[in-house]
Amino acid sequence: MTGKTRIPRVRRGRTTPRAFTLAVVGTLLAGTTVAAAAPGAADTANVQYTSRAAELVAQMTLDEKISFVHWALDPDRQNVGYLPGVPRLGIPELRAADGPNGIRLVGRTATALPAPVALASTFDDTMADSYGKVMGRDGRALNQDMVLGPMMNNIRVPHGGRNYETFSEDPLVSSRTAVAQIKGIQGAGLMTTAKHFAANNQENNRFSVNATVDEQTLREIEFPAFEASSKAGAASFMCAYNGLNGKPSCGNDELLNNVLRTQWGFQGWVMSDWLATPGTDAITKGLDQEMGVELPGDVPKGEPSPPAKFFGDALKQAVLNGTIPESAVTQSAERIVGQMEKFGLLAATPAPRPERDKAGAQAVSRKVAENGAVLLRNEGQALPLAGDAGKSIAVIGPTAVDPKVTGLGSAHVVPDSAAAPLDTIRARAGAGATVTYETGEETFGTQIPAGNLSPAFNQGHQLEPGKAGALYDGTLTVPADGEYRIAVRATGGYATVQLGSHTIEAGQVYGKVSSPLLKLTKGTHKLTISGFAMSATPLSLELGWVTPEAADATIAKAVEAAKKARTAVVFAYDDGTEGVDRPNLSLPGTQDKLISAVADANPNTIVVLNTGSSVLMPWLSKTRAVLDMWYPGQAGAEATASLLYGDVNPSGKLTQSFPAAENQHAVAGDPTSYPGVDNQQTYREGIHVGYRWFDKENVKPLFPFGHGLSYTSFTQSAPTVVRTSTGGLKVTVTVRNSGQRAGQEVVQAYLGASPNVTAPQAKKKLVGYTKVSLAAGETKTVTINVDRRQLQFWDAAADCWKTGTGNRLLQTGSSSADLRGSATVNVW
Ligand code: BGC
Repeated sequence: MTGKTRIPRVRRGRTTPRAFTLAVVGTLLAGTTVAAAAPGAADTANVQYTSRAAELVAQMTLDEKISFVHWALDPDRQNVGYLPGVPRLGIPELRAADGPNGIRLVGRTATALPAPVALASTFDDTMADSYGKVMGRDGRALNQDMVLGPMMNNIRVPHGGRNYETFSEDPLVSSRTAVAQIKGIQGAGLMTTAKHFAANNQENNRFSVNATVDEQTLREIEFPAFEASSKAGAASFMCAYNGLNGKPSCGNDELLNNVLRTQWGFQGWVMSDWLATPGTDAITKGLDQEMGVELPGDVPKGEPSPPAKFFGDALKQAVLNGTIPESAVTQSAERIVGQMEKFGLLAATPAPRPERDKAGAQAVSRKVAENGAVLLRNEGQALPLAGDAGKSIAVIGPTAVDPKVTGLGSAHVVPDSAAAPLDTIRARAGAGATVTYETGEETFGTQIPAGNLSPAFNQGHQLEPGKAGALYDGTLTVPADGEYRIAVRATGGYATVQLGSHTIEAGQVYGKVSSPLLKLTKGTHKLTISGFAMSATPLSLELGWVTPEAADATIAKAVEAAKKARTAVVFAYDDGTEGVDRPNLSLPGTQDKLISAVADANPNTIVVLNTGSSVLMPWLSKTRAVLDMWYPGQAGAEATASLLYGDVNPSGKLTQSFPAAENQHAVAGDPTSYPGVDNQQTYREGIHVGYRWFDKENVKPLFPFGHGLSYTSFTQSAPTVVRTSTGGLKVTVTVRNSGQRAGQEVVQAYLGASPNVTAPQAKKKLVGYTKVSLAAGETKTVTINVDRRQLQFWDAAADCWKTGTGNRLLQTGSSSADLRGSATVNVW
């Protein structure tokens, strides 16, 4: 076994450094005249532009057409998608890289932007546009034509492994962020992919779960960002792994042909998620392209790209024997070539590729990190750091020195560079300051002593490249009852460690080290290990542990450092990743204990979160301030220091509610709702996801949707509301910066239920927002335009949108729980 095709999708290592050489083929049939759409043609969304494409596809052989409907490996083994083109017809190659927070290439750096959840937390379309422009330019400069992003699935499950990669629990925030990002990317000439259509709202069981979701919930919660992206002219859609209402998302005529194409007028093409094509006949059900052959690192350069499973030879045979009409292949090829035409790739003289603008990209990365950071708590104005508080600091936590740049999985972009927050804090604290450091939290600890493993375990080399198999079968002796971090560091491949009933997966997708905190009893525990090496690298494995005594000693050192400093700044992290959800909402390892102990020792404790989604904070009341930086990208350290010291005033707002307890959220406590039982799940909460659920159940979250503090304060007037000629609303609010420094406020407008609707309705839902900058003492009047669709609900019986008429309460304010004014609106 070579380990090539058998790699489960969650186990993907793909960062073998490789030099990049690329020949761009950009010739076109001599003498043809093509009105090539300029890069940035996204604004001409959904114009029929395929005549030239149809002409070209008509000249193709069946084999040539088939070469468009499945991705291959690029000759340089740098990305996930490659189409060879048809040189004889002047159709160039096409290259697609993963996103969605930068251009992910194998062994090549790019701008690692802040996590998409941080972008959405800016509540600022101009940020999403700038972010998109950086991706577009980077992608084009790095010889790519397309990026597989943005991801826009709703944040339904607080534990979701990819919550960091998507935007919000609210469809309006997701839609606006997605559209602005798509326009930014495509405006720079790079194609986008709206993913994962639809209901890919969890990672556990993602390959096999079938989600049963009622039509109203789909239309009002999961679909809006996809619908908006289709209307914004996204070049492609990626269908999801999971099934939706009994059919695979990638073989779902209703979803792909009826909803996406007929109802929304989508003109681009649909590709499958990696290995998500259900069968050859999916091409007759709306799927145009199969994705998923081998990983770039798995097939050496020079070897042919491995064959596609369904949309290669199997498709050819099906066409030749008449099971699938050739017209289906023709149509899919036309859709793809049509987008190439739209993006100017078929032009006689294609637009030259730009150079990267590293300085500009770094500046955007920093600005988004600064504007998306959410100040969750700030008691007694502990922040910004000033005077002694900013001069005598104990910095604690691993991500202060090993920066958490981005999440793990296919979105892991290799950053150009990334400073450590400890260094930027030291620099900002300046001469004469004392800034000490303690890790406070060991993830690997020490290698497990030989005497505790029987038979002996050979730390280090395990398998030759491409090999797989059982690696160990023995026991681990635990000296005393307690909580142990059992650490597995796997490089060059993947390993599954089974310790009693605990399973530990390790390898690149899971981070540098996998080290869950396990409650173990004194005595011997069965330990088995299996694994595989990537085809180009040997597998090396180390087993470490952090015993309870070792963990306590590390915490004790941090406590000592905290006692000696005026301020303690603790960096806490989690490891959001693709393929698996978080097992619970707590910070991993002993971080809760660490923060608690430090806060007990130093009343001036500030927590900086490098987390991808909501976390529980049992220590919250002991701390002075909590700043959520998310995964802040490659300029995260600079952004963190400027926010801590008040060079920048925080202005981010939560795009998701933070539950106060493990069992207090919309999908808690019912496995048939999450994660599913026997591969079936039902979205029982319906439209009441996120804050809609907290409102309905009258449960107080730890931090509400829309929450985010500032170093200044704002007052807001009651709203004035008028109905517009297009059936929407114009909401006007006067905002005053009543504090001492310049800042930005996000004015949020929420609309209450209609008295005339029997379908489920939220008590209130976000219908509009705008971000405004104000100097200290300044007053501005802002207008929030509320689209007509926001006044509507999906009437499942009538199968259409209807307006929720009657007197409805419109509230405006600073968060979903901090409403400052209201007006009654008569909707008709
Ligand atoms: C992910 C996609 C990604 C694709 C290609 C899949 O496993 O779900 O988001 O674009 O792999 O890497």
